[in-house]
Formats: sequence, structure tokens, C-alpha cells
Amino acid sequence: MLGRFARLRVPSSRLNRAPAIFSGMVASQFASKGFIAGRTKQVDSSLAEVDAYLAVVGTKEHPLVNELRDATAASVGDMARLLVDRGCGQFLAWQLRSLKATRVLEVGTFTGATALSFATIVAENAGLSPHPLTSEASPAQEPHASGLQDEVIAAVPTADDAVNVPGPLRHPIITDPSLLPSRGPLVATLELDPSQLKAVGLPIWARAGAPSAALPLWCVEGAATESMQTLSATDCVGSFDLVFIDADKGRYPEYYELALALTRKGGVIALDNVLRRGNVVREWRRSQTAEAVAVEATAQEGVAPVEAVAEDEMLTSARILDRLNFKVSQDTRVQHCLLPVGDGLLLATKL
Ligand SMILES: C[S@@+](CC[C@H](N)C(=O)[O-])C[C@H]1O[C@@H](n2cnc3c(N)ncnc32)[C@H](O)[C@@H]1O
Repeated sequence: MLGRFARLRVPSSRLNRAPAIFSGMVASQFASKGFIAGRTKQVDSSLAEVDAYLAVVGTKEHPLVNELRDATAASVGDMARLLVDRGCGQFLAWQLRSLKATRVLEVGTFTGATALSFATIVAENAGLSPHPLTSEASPAQEPHASGLQDEVIAAVPTADDAVNVPGPLRHPIITDPSLLPSRGPLVATLELDPSQLKAVGLPIWARAGAPSAALPLWCVEGAATESMQTLSATDCVGSFDLVFIDADKGRYPEYYELALALTRKGGVIALDNVLRRGNVVREWRRSQTAEAVAVEATAQEGVAPVEAVAEDEMLTSARILDRLNFKVSQDTRVQHCLLPVGDGLLLATKL
């Protein structure tokens, strides 16, 4: 049994700590996967009805963000599951308005749907664009690889306060994060491989008018850790109202620390998928069992427990997220909140 676990480092304070997380959308995911024992068909159908209701009444997206979601599904099929859950997106949009956020950093772009949603709200919060939710989208323009930047600029809305952006920032994808403005409205999204953004998202970004001073939205191509480190060496430190982390789960602990440096006091770090469809909770349960077994073995043998070595030496992303969730819950630098929205959304306000 012990051989299944890489390390036994779960503090005893965690034993019997049972967070009340099985509610709302997460609960419905668990139930639909059969994670909740003793459920009935009636419960199932009620949960499905709640989900259907939430899909209609619980969310409202910018029409172009909706279009980008649809275009993603049409283009990448099953991979569209990488898009942020609609309820989670709605919560983040609400949060951005509450914070009056004008500077947002996203880790993990994919086709650029969340980033576009963030940008429309930032533009409103900053007074750059009067009524994006009701405004007519400009006619479709198909950017060609060679002439993309001119066509993007041609699609810029003619808001009075729109001014030209500097030459290097005329393209929606840049490779040098230090080019990003360290003050003023900004949505920057970091992506290792922007091929899906190029194929699906950029034509819609262009129709929305990004990038421009009226819709200041850029993707930074490259490994997110490096981009965040570069930003940390600029005046962008402490400048972001919200950092949204939604990329490779194994690096979440790094992203969290870097995000903390880049976020202003009172700003929010939001981490998506921190429950991983229940795998994080199962991992937590397993680690509790392992610790209990180790404690019993020590008592019987009278020797200190040796750290068990896993058959698989690699920490799973679930284990990493379990540890990060626990760390954030104990972190005196933040006020945290773990919400059962989507696949689990961890929020940390910087104190
Ligand atoms: C879940 S998707 C992001 C979805 C997006 N936030 C949305 O809802 O529209 C995660 C993205 O992170 C990217 N990614 C993975 N590892 C990365 C890394 N080390 N640096 C930057 N991006 C990475 C993936 O290529 C993928 O496009």
C-alpha cells in the first residue's frame, strides 16, 4: 500500500479536515461521473436541470466571445473542453467588474476566448469602449499570414480615445513581454504554442478591434514562466488587478508565486481546475490513508517512518494541486476562497 506513494508529507493538521466543496457545478460533475454514492436518477435529472438553467440564466457573454467558443468547438472538436467553463468565465467577468480591473494577465491562451472576454470588460472599465455588449461587430475580415497586422489595425474601432499603438505592438502576438505597457489598460495572455489562437481566435480578435488602444489585448508567445519572470523584472511588478492561471497544472506553484509578485495589493489571483474532476480530492484522501498507515507502522516498529517511494516517481498534477490548495489556504499573504465553480476555482486576494 505504502509503495504507491512518493512522499508522506501531509501535516497531521490536515487529517480529518474535510472541506465542504461538493456542491454546485462541481457536485454535478462528480455526480454525473458516479463519484457520489447512493445518488438517484431523480437527483441526476435535478442536477441536469440545474445545469441547463445555469447555462441559460447564469451566464451572459459578449457575442464575439460566444462566437469564438463556437468557432473553437467547430475547429478543434473535443479539445474545446480546454475552454474555461462558462460559469467560471461568468464569475471572472463579474469579478473583473467588481475590481474595476484595467490590467489583467492570463496564463494559457488556447484560442483566446477568455482573453477576449477579459479585454472587452477591461475596455469598459477603462472607459475605452462604450457598450461592447450591445455594439455591432464589424464585418468579418480574414487576416492573411503576411498582411495580418495592417488588417488588424484597419479593424480598430474608431473610439474617440483610441490612439495608435507603437509599431512593435501592432501585431496581436509578440515574443518580448517587456514591450507590454507597464501602466494603463492591458490584457496580456501567455501561450507556449499560439497555433490555435492563430487558426481560430485571431480573426475574431481582429473583428473586435484587438490589438489597439481601444482594445489593448496581446498574446505573448513562449513559456509562461519565462514571460512572467521577464515581466517581474519590469515596472509591471505589482501592476495587475487580476492574474488568471489556466495552463499546465504541474507549474501552478511557480505561476502562483510569480503571479503574487505581479499582482497589486487588493488584486486577485485566480487558478482554474484546482479540483481536476475530483482527482485532487482523491489524492488528498489517499495521502491521509498513507499517513495513517505510516503512523501505525512507526508505533509498532518504534522507528521513524521512512518516506515511501512511489512506483511512479513523478508527482501527479493532482498531488501538486492538492499541496498548492493547502499552501494557499495557509498563506498569510493572501485571503483565499476555493469555489466549487467549473472544475474548481481557487481565488487569492493579495493582502
Ligand atoms: C486550458 S487552455 C487555456 C484556455 C483559455 N484560458 C480559455 O479558456 O480560453 C491551456 C493553454 O495553456 C497552454 N500552455 C501549456 N503549457 C504552457 C506553458 N508552459 N506556457 C504557456 N502556455 C502553456 C496550452 O498550450 C493551452 O493552450
